[in-house]
Amino acid sequence: MCGIVGVIGTVNTKEMLIDGLKKLEYRGYDSAGVFINGNQGSHLVKEVGKIAKLEDAISNEVGGTMGIGHTRWATHGKPTVENAHPHFSSDERFYLVHNGVITNYEQLKETYLSGIEFASQTDTEVVVQLVSYFANQGMTTLEAFKQTISLLEGSYAFALADKENPEQIFVAKNKSPLLLGIGEDFNALCSDAMAMINYTNQFVELHDGEIVILEADNYEIYDQSGVAIERSPYEVDLDPKEISKGTYDYYMLKEIDEQPGVIRRISEFYLSDEQVNLDEDLLNKMATAKQIYIVAAGTSYHAGLVGKRIIEELTDIPVNVELASEFGYHLPKLIDESFFIFLSQSGETADSRQVLVKINEMNLPSLTVTNVKDSTLWREATYQMQLLAGPEIAVASTKAYVAQIAVQAVIAKVLGDHLNNATAKQLDLREELSLAANGIQAIVDQKDDIEKLSYEFFTNQNHAFYIGRGMDYALCLEAALKLKEISYIHTEGFAAGELKHGTISLIEDKTPVIAYLNDQNTTGLTRGNIEEVQARGAHVLVISNQDDAQSDDQIVCFTINELLQPLISVVPAQLLAYYASLQRGNDVDQPRSLAKSVTVE
Ligand code: M6R
Repeated sequence: MCGIVGVIGTVNTKEMLIDGLKKLEYRGYDSAGVFINGNQGSHLVKEVGKIAKLEDAISNEVGGTMGIGHTRWATHGKPTVENAHPHFSSDERFYLVHNGVITNYEQLKETYLSGIEFASQTDTEVVVQLVSYFANQGMTTLEAFKQTISLLEGSYAFALADKENPEQIFVAKNKSPLLLGIGEDFNALCSDAMAMINYTNQFVELHDGEIVILEADNYEIYDQSGVAIERSPYEVDLDPKEISKGTYDYYMLKEIDEQPGVIRRISEFYLSDEQVNLDEDLLNKMATAKQIYIVAAGTSYHAGLVGKRIIEELTDIPVNVELASEFGYHLPKLIDESFFIFLSQSGETADSRQVLVKINEMNLPSLTVTNVKDSTLWREATYQMQLLAGPEIAVASTKAYVAQIAVQAVIAKVLGDHLNNATAKQLDLREELSLAANGIQAIVDQKDDIEKLSYEFFTNQNHAFYIGRGMDYALCLEAALKLKEISYIHTEGFAAGELKHGTISLIEDKTPVIAYLNDQNTTGLTRGNIEEVQARGAHVLVISNQDDAQSDDQIVCFTINELLQPLISVVPAQLLAYYASLQRGNDVDQPRSLAKSVTVE
């Protein structure tokens, strides 16, 4: 989703902006732009497409001591140069980049800006025109910015530049993520720390409603009522090397390959020989819960479906898994002993965040399990746990999914032990995670075979199905999402027994049906469902495990404890999707229309 960078100081602003925008590419975007200002004049450059194109379009003469930049993921208006940010006021004095959505922009346009000719179709342009409108009434830039903000409804992270004042950048935040980066010869702002990690590891968090005046050697933060806030930087522990692609063509394959290491890291960190590394307060609070809710979106929701089964089996506490975008607006009756787990790779998903805000208002306890320490969901929850997957750059989530399952297993095991649950006591989770890491490794070592299967099954196909039962059904939902989001093959994840209630009519000659066979109670039934689709011409690929395999199953995974089997069994689906996308010539890491960090509802 949209990304923002800004830099002010005695540094190579242009280079830092472009580098920062490249680091934000992973979030997903369709156009980009920069505004650079300084003694040698000001420059606005915008392009549709990749940052490399923007870089080419910026002439060597462009330079300055301050600049703001943006990657846009279209919400209002098509991806065009006119709609790309920065947007500017008609008098070309103010330039603005924005992440978020202003919901009352049409009303504001009508009330204040009826005489203005607009250059774009965006909500953002209304904001910058309003700043100019109020400045033309005699307000200072800060006053005009504040006055504009007081009228806005919706979400925003803003960086505003005044061409007449290259010494300051005006910044504001509400619901959309934004950080300040503090350097030796500069200060910066960015949507996430990754954008500036090559230049500084010192960052300052911003809270909703705050406004900042950013200068080369100073930053002033004000809350909604204008009171100055003192806030020191914190150190971000992110190794720039971790965000490099290395020898891989795509981050997705690198991240799939990293999964055994992620599982071992989680095991070592949370379940080391000497002690269990889980917050005592968190454990006590969860032990009193009578109902756990897991709230998430997309892949994280699918990981939650697996987590539900693990937590229920090991703790006997009932768990509901909820789609964040639905749950927040249709809350059921909640009992006081409810406990909320927010699962999110990015820690910034707006759908999940709106639920957390409501949960906090009700004073209910929450735990955020995320890959990004200090992200919004991290900061705003009662308790926090890190996924420890390392930065995940590809839009298609892979290693974060397995990390989410592994961390939920840690929670379930430790809580179950604490509650004296017999199943938990019997489970040697360290051993199972070690087996899982080996099992994942065995699958990634077979990637050449899986590549061939991917070509055999998906070439010239526009529809596909994943089928399975029990935990395999949860796995099917994730496997289908992986395939459709990057290959653009329409794919459904289906409960195997449900096909015959309608969907089987879609099975035609050669329709790919991938069947998961890990659920020991229903293996025979699912084998029967395979026969049914084969009888209608389906081309069937079976992913099973050593215990349940038949001789003609194409992919056989190591068998581990049934509760943890998805850790291994998901990997063939990730690889099948990767190669299907590659074969179609798609941009595997940045599929069309998608964003890594979904910061609008
Ligand atoms: O950052 P989150 O885990 O909260 O993101 C939720 C979804 O947008 C995300 O899981 C999405 O479905 C994946 N990128 C798909 O691979």
